[in-house]
Amino acid sequence: MSQPARGAFGAQAAMQVAKASYDRCCADAGFLRAFYDDFFARCPEAKPRFAGTDFERQNKLLRHAFGILLIFPNQARTEPSVLTRVAERHSRRDLDIPPALYGPFLESLIATVGRCDPEFSSAVERAWRETVAPGMAYMRAKY
Ligand code: HEM
Repeated sequence: MSQPARGAFGAQAAMQVAKASYDRCCADAGFLRAFYDDFFARCPEAKPRFAGTDFERQNKLLRHAFGILLIFPNQARTEPSVLTRVAERHSRRDLDIPPALYGPFLESLIATVGRCDPEFSSAVERAWRETVAPGMAYMRAKY
């Protein structure tokens, strides 16, 4: 009994730690720009996919979507989910984003949080990785 209860508590705690870190990142006006700079350097094949992108609009949508990613573990596993529309947009039926690109996307997110969150630590990093893992897996699974 105590094992799952501790696990569930741990997931809630991790979500709060990651969310607080995300709020600190959002206080940095350069956060999303820094994220894309890192992502395009780490994953050059991603860059041409954003050739026609209006980054002012994209940044608003992505800022919101990172927030959704961070609450995803808390949501009921029913469809449609809070990520259904975003996953459909990235699937082979639309943007056609291969699942392999989610790895570098995640590493860029963590690296950028590391640069922008003044309270970043290995515990904050673990909280991020744990919290966004289900949403990332969901996106890849819907490809
Ligand atoms: C969990 C990870 C991801 C999240 C939460 C996310 C979120 C979003 C959101 C909210 C949009 C805007 C959708 C719209 O226009 O309605 C978007 C667009 C886009 N995303 Fe992602 N994304 C993720 C991963 C990726 C990855 C790995 C790539 C790889 C290159 C990618 C490439 C794109 C592209 C090309 C667009 C379209 C930009 C445009 O409209 O010009 N995304 N993403």
